[in-house]
Amino acid sequence: MDRESARTLQALKGRDFLTLLDYTPAEIHALLALAADLKAKKKAGIPHDGLRGKNAALIFEKTSTRTRCAFEVAAHDLGMGTTYLDPAGSQIGKKESIADTARVLSGMFEGIEYRGFGQEIVEELAAGADVPVWNGLTNEYHPTQILADMLTLREHFGHLEGLKFVYMGDARYNMGNSLMIGCSKLGLHFTACAPRDYRPAPALVEKCRAFAAASGGSVTLTDDPAAVAGADAVYTDVWVSMGEPDEVWAQRIAALGAYQVNAAVMAKAGPRAVFLHCLPAFHDRKTTIGREMGEKFDRDAMEVTDEVFSGPQSLVFLEAENRMHTIKAVIAATLGYLPA
Ligand code: CP
Ligand code: NVA
Repeated sequence: MDRESARTLQALKGRDFLTLLDYTPAEIHALLALAADLKAKKKAGIPHDGLRGKNAALIFEKTSTRTRCAFEVAAHDLGMGTTYLDPAGSQIGKKESIADTARVLSGMFEGIEYRGFGQEIVEELAAGADVPVWNGLTNEYHPTQILADMLTLREHFGHLEGLKFVYMGDARYNMGNSLMIGCSKLGLHFTACAPRDYRPAPALVEKCRAFAAASGGSVTLTDDPAAVAGADAVYTDVWVSMGEPDEVWAQRIAALGAYQVNAAVMAKAGPRAVFLHCLPAFHDRKTTIGREMGEKFDRDAMEVTDEVFSGPQSLVFLEAENRMHTIKAVIAATLGYLPA
């Protein structure tokens, strides 16, 4: 890692990680550099456990596979202990306020991860905590996911600036918002390909257009699936997110069906294009919801076909692995540990 990145990382000690809006392009690049370094160390079997004796609380008010495992493995590799608070098994919100929880946990832990509903909850937790708070997904943002996505693209293409990134589908929620922020800060050309009601809020679009003006990227909103032409990366996410009722499936399929990522879409994107998805994905009927909704709406797949998901352009499992390396970088940097 170069000296400039190391200096940038040192300044992250004690910081929260709540949304990429709070991080400069240089800070995001430095976190990616640290993640790459930690990934190389892990692959080479070089210990990086300088956070021995420290502990992290992992609060999940929504379910998780990747984010929970990534935090637990990353913390363990760094020498830390973790305590997992599941969606039902704590007093948070029901019997104890967020502010009180923040003070209690600050007395026992060196860092707190939070996955849940409104962004205002993680903001309140951070305001009341004396230790760094990391956002493991809210309705509005999923910043650790974006670091993994950018690391994956950087590994594949060797750079990020100038890449054409097309997000198809429900662009109004955590993934659409956060990808637009990350891409616009890092100089990618971001297109949200989605119907009018499924786009990021105008105020956020305006902010991201200003980031893009500074980074050399761009932000485009369109409802035309043909906008995928020439894309380097095609991204999608589920049409119904955690916390949303099953009743919205019918309207989502009607509104977003034309934005499914399938072989025709990937062919239009071109042979160099890669496919990304934060996961979990409804690409077949091998899940309870996939089967139930598949039967109800007579579909084999929702936002992405199995052919694309399992095909040669798909980087989704590398992307999932990179959740761990990038989350490790966030924990290490915000707790002030930069392994030599
Ligand atoms: N991508 C992601 O956040 O996955 P989990 O919901 O499994 O954590
Ligand atoms: N938009 C999805 C992302 C899952 C990682 C959700 O919030 O459920």
